Amino acid sequence: MSSLFITFEGIDGAGKSSHIEPLADWLRARGREVLVTREPGGTPLAESLRELLLRQPMDALTESLLVFAARRDHLQTCIEPALARGASVLCDRFTDATFAYQGGGRGFDHAVLAQLETWVQQGRQPDLTLWFDLPAATAAARRAAARAPDRFEQQDAGFFERVRAGYADRAAQAPQRFVRVDSSQPREQVAAELQRALAEHFGW
Ligand code: TYD
Repeated sequence: MSSLFITFEGIDGAGKSSHIEPLADWLRARGREVLVTREPGGTPLAESLRELLLRQPMDALTESLLVFAARRDHLQTCIEPALARGASVLCDRFTDATFAYQGGGRGFDHAVLAQLETWVQQGRQPDLTLWFDLPAATAAARRAAARAPDRFEQQDAGFFERVRAGYADRAAQAPQRFVRVDSSQPREQVAAELQRALAEHFGW
């Protein structure tokens, strides 16, 4: 069975994180070894960088360098070895988040991000990206009902509209890789749609 690299994307409050473990179990029940991980993070070094990113004020270039530094370590020591041994990797956020948050949200230079992407990923791209999409206002209402906001979650509505537009741009550039899921639907409907999307995308 070939390994799969699947990423989960969307603005804060889109609900993607709650769908990762159930989808991993669904794949395991079909005989796959599955590794669930996240960005920024997934290794001791990258988790340390995540703490800095979520708490310390910094400019958009510093933010971009840190997320790609974390990604480099995560790819080299966790994701690539897992894919090489035939495991599938489900990753909560990846480079599309950098284009959406640093590129869209912060307005940072896409050409610089594209250069960092080339250096860090050496051609590695997800096989499938599940984009949990919903209006920024709906996501904000969901976030308000959850926990204390981090540095990104404290941003205003305009920021999240730009992040959402950033995801839409990335999806338009790689339509064969992206599946958009309407995450304003009830949870069970989203879960069913994810299973259908995988079966269709991978031709099962
Ligand atoms: P998130 O998945 O929202 O973690 P949690 O659900 O535990 O809060 O990720 C943390 C934040 O990091 C999120 O607000 C988006 C931000 N982020 C970036 O700005 N750029 C990136 O490249 C990545 C991966 C995340």
